[in-house]
Amino acid sequence: EPEYYETFGDFHGVLMDRQFTKDWDDVEAFSARPDDLLIVTYPKSGTTWASEIVYMIYKEGDVAKCKEDAIFNRIPYLECKTHHMMNGVRQLKEMESPRIVKTHLPSKLLPASFWEKNCKMIYLCRNAKDVAVSYYYFFLMIPSYPKPGSFSEFVEKFMQGQVPYGSWYDHVKSWWEKSKNPRVLFIFYEDMIEDIRKEVIKLIEFLERKPSEELVNKIIQHTSFQEMKNNPSTNYTTLPEEIMSHKVSSFMRKGITGDWKNHFTVALNEKFDMHYEQQMKDSTLKFRTEI
Ligand code: PPS
Repeated sequence: EPEYYETFGDFHGVLMDRQFTKDWDDVEAFSARPDDLLIVTYPKSGTTWASEIVYMIYKEGDVAKCKEDAIFNRIPYLECKTHHMMNGVRQLKEMESPRIVKTHLPSKLLPASFWEKNCKMIYLCRNAKDVAVSYYYFFLMIPSYPKPGSFSEFVEKFMQGQVPYGSWYDHVKSWWEKSKNPRVLFIFYEDMIEDIRKEVIKLIEFLERKPSEELVNKIIQHTSFQEMKNNPSTNYTTLPEEIMSHKVSSFMRKGITGDWKNHFTVALNEKFDMHYEQQMKDSTLKFRTEI
């Protein structure tokens, strides 16, 4: 599939969007500041949700401040280079501290400076099957991406790590190892769905602020799926059509766990489970099997 590999290419063993890696020097040389906070995820794991919660914490629950600009301007996407407006490194250089940084990089590709400056990091993880479903619809929204084919064809690529950011399995396993460091908080999308209050309090405490009931309530209200779906500063609808199209799907698509059950056939599911077990057997990271 020449078109596929024109868009994505191997970068140190990880399939990456070639637009992002062609001038990698500025990413690699990125200068982190000690008070930078990094939000790390494999794509489609709930990055935007966690980001808005963290932004609310930083703004002490001031919703108006959260609505001042689109999330991709308030929390730049480090390695992104899709558009002159969206260049993470450039945006971050101009930004006052404290900065919040979004990245999808696997730990081995993260600029060294984040480790050297001992920055706090939040790693948010979502179960592989729902990530694959969400990623499939995301592909349909990005005009510069190749067509993903059928869902089962796409899942095959996902299993082989032939999607941007490479293997989900390697990504979550390596970040799970990193989370032995207390500066790295490892959380799950499924836990957020199950008990958002508990996870919001966890985030507030990790950021060394006070989880007053008023603040927690405001955050839960402002970052609900419906609220974020209707909010132009979080739903990505302000991006130009040529970067992201909302005609076939939406960024705030469903926001649930277990949508994979509507997409995986029994046979595909069995194949996926077998491969999953093999990929994950060398890790202590465990997901609840039934989502
Ligand atoms: S990206 O492009 O990688 O940054 O996407 P990301 O934000 O990580 O993931 C998008 C999915 O997260 C869902 N989402 C939410 N779920 C529940 N509550 C809230 N508030 C919320 N905000 C975003 C979003 O709907 C995508 O998942 P799917 O399964 O496609 O609906």
